Amino acid sequence: MPSAEPDFLGLAAPGVRGLTPYQPGKPVAELERELGIRDAIKLASNENPYGPAPGALAAAQAALQQVARYPDGSAHQLVERLAAQHGVGADSITLGNGSNDVLDMIARVFLTPQHEAVFSRHAFAVYPISVQAVGAVARVAPAHDGSRGPVFGHDLAAMAALVNDRTRVVFIANPNNPTGTWLAAGELEAFVARLPAQVMVVIDEAYFEYVDEAQYPDSSCWLQRYPNLIVTRTFSKAYGLAGLRVGYALSHPQVAGLLNRVRQPFNVNLVAQAAALAALEDTRHLAECVRHNREGMQQLVTGFRELGLSFIESAGNFIAVDVGRPGLEVYRSLLREGVIVRPVANYEMPTHLRITIGRTEENARFLAALRKVLA
Ligand SMILES: Cc1ncc(COP(=O)(O)O)c(C=O)c1O
Repeated sequence: MPSAEPDFLGLAAPGVRGLTPYQPGKPVAELERELGIRDAIKLASNENPYGPAPGALAAAQAALQQVARYPDGSAHQLVERLAAQHGVGADSITLGNGSNDVLDMIARVFLTPQHEAVFSRHAFAVYPISVQAVGAVARVAPAHDGSRGPVFGHDLAAMAALVNDRTRVVFIANPNNPTGTWLAAGELEAFVARLPAQVMVVIDEAYFEYVDEAQYPDSSCWLQRYPNLIVTRTFSKAYGLAGLRVGYALSHPQVAGLLNRVRQPFNVNLVAQAAALAALEDTRHLAECVRHNREGMQQLVTGFRELGLSFIESAGNFIAVDVGRPGLEVYRSLLREGVIVRPVANYEMPTHLRITIGRTEENARFLAALRKVLA
């Protein structure tokens, strides 16, 4: 007789019981298998459609020869290079298996069931997951309604109003995913300056390299001024290395020391370390990708205007468009056209879809498919 299955859910940590897993974009291969087609396109995960710099790929290929060995657990070369890039000491850097890994470490280090984290409505989905997984309380601030800032954008006054004695972490995505909204230097620094010293403020700059706005801050420059500031960056977006998983945090050395206590010893693999290091050298490739993104953004915006659709102005490599009907239905119709985008009902944006800026021909194919399914 097999023994009865235990109540696994009941055994799980309280925070984990109520968690819903992060929903990633649908892989191209899966859709092609389902539809029996070969030319599906994916504009669903804010990846760089131009891929990494050739030098990064070559470095990754060369590093494959070494994979019988563990990686350098402290990723010495990459950490030193990033420290030089940001003008900080190596002891200010914490590497992650993608920046998601760092966000998770922050929650594990600073949050407990007695503590609270503050973030905005429509903010990046990993914040609630990381907070809930450690059993801490998530306080979600209403987003702007359009009267004092961009609709759907982070309302810093509303976020500040939720900070109390139990608050340990505030998460801000700048720009935010999936809205693409961003915060200007003046208001963001004023917000950071007003926070109590025991509240860690995480400024997630996953899309930093794409932003082309005069008032957009490089908040890593504020680290000296605010010891409670943590800035996160990634190689997954403009550097085109999403599949290799490299991200990092910049912070006060003592904060980095704490994050490194919970970091898995070899969390950034050997191939990823080599590729990320090489990717930093090719600033021309990076600039080209950013330029193409700007053009692609214009292409989509023009297309949306022609279709009479409203959209949220975005500073990233993606844009949220209001399709004026349930986004999930339009998403499914687009799948049948071989186009994968991202429904964002889970972000409380049921009539929006988030589209990653693709190559010119991919953007055109998406727009044609959208026109067809909305007709
Ligand atoms: C705002 C934001 N932060 C962080 C990430 C995490 O990216 P990664 O773990 O690949 O660095 C993403 C990815 O979509 C994002 O949109």
